[in-house]
Amino acid sequence: MTIRDDKLRVGIIFGGMSSEREVSLNSGRNVYDNLDRDRYEAVPLFMDGDGGIWVLPWKLVSQNTTVDIAERLAGEAERISYEDLGDLINVAFIALHGKYGDDGCIQGLLELLGIPYTGSGVLASALGMDKDVQQRLLKESGIGVPRSIVISEVEWKSDGDAVSERLSSTFGFPLVTKPIREGSSFGVTIIRNPDQIAGGIDAALIWDSEVLVEEYLEGIEFSSIVLEENGFPIPLAVTEIQPRSSFFTYDDKYMPGQCRKFTPPKSIPGEAVETIKSEVVRAFQSLGFRCYGRIDGFYLKSGEVFITDPNSSAGMAPSSFFFEQAAESGMSPSDIISRLVDISISIHAAKQGPL
Ligand SMILES: Nc1ncnc2c1ncn2[C@@H]1O[C@H](COP(=O)(O)OP(=O)(O)OP(=O)(O)O)[C@@H](O)[C@H]1O
Ligand SMILES: [Mg+2]
Repeated sequence: MTIRDDKLRVGIIFGGMSSEREVSLNSGRNVYDNLDRDRYEAVPLFMDGDGGIWVLPWKLVSQNTTVDIAERLAGEAERISYEDLGDLINVAFIALHGKYGDDGCIQGLLELLGIPYTGSGVLASALGMDKDVQQRLLKESGIGVPRSIVISEVEWKSDGDAVSERLSSTFGFPLVTKPIREGSSFGVTIIRNPDQIAGGIDAALIWDSEVLVEEYLEGIEFSSIVLEENGFPIPLAVTEIQPRSSFFTYDDKYMPGQCRKFTPPKSIPGEAVETIKSEVVRAFQSLGFRCYGRIDGFYLKSGEVFITDPNSSAGMAPSSFFFEQAAESGMSPSDIISRLVDISISIHAAKQGPL
């Protein structure tokens, strides 16, 4: 490809090795489409299912699935080695989600290569992925989180009846089972009676070797993007989520026209919205997030605010929370993408060590 020297070259990395690779494709191409071409040169970088990096020709960016892209890579794209990335790009825009993408893996690699990247560092990204460890840290900071128990695959396989009994007697029903390290609601099940426990745990074990079992929270779900500004985390806005399904499922998240979202919230009182804003900032800080994050939680019937899912990255499809809340704060998609790129470069310049 032709490299121009007058603009910062932004490598947008998408696809990847996780269950969320299709979500990542949507995020990546939307960032590609909206990257400000007056300031930056866009370099679309596709990560294949084995972790290989390819420079994509622009026409492959709008393929429907990662499989469609993968089939054409050998003939139409250019495979590069990680070591060559530094010659090709000045900064990486990580539009990957899930394992190897927002869990500290690619972040560590980019640290070794000395390439600035969007989002949090290695440790905070790993914490953003691990629902058990993150909840322990949030709890220690006095942030409300659901009560939970971790069940390992070994424990479940050796005495499933004892596990079921323990779960039934600890929290009662409903319960929520989820893989400890996943996203996009993969492997999440609402368990309404003891007969459903095995199905829920097995569904979560498809994705991870440990399952988090949480008490079910009754209330209104929210999501808030937090953006770092001059070193301070600022919540962009709060969005109230009204899923069509019994919870915020994969289809609710990504199927056009499925879920209703309200920014600012429609049914959460103003005072509680202010509490949510301060709690999402505290969660962001407790986990050491940088650049931006997406913090999800519930406004409970009791009036309390609980944080359930602090994410160190956010989906970036056109109607994502990220762009909806940016718009609410007066920023176009190009504006906020530029902000992330600029913040990332300054964070990287000020770093002492990779974390
Ligand atoms: N304790 C809970 N009580 C009630 N509903 C819950 C609970 N935990 C999760 N849910 C529902 O399940 C959905 C997915 O759970 P969670 O946010 O933990 O998963 P995720 O895969 O990390 O999602 P994301 O793609 O937003 O990162 C939530 O959006 C919510 O609707
Ligand atoms: Mg999540």
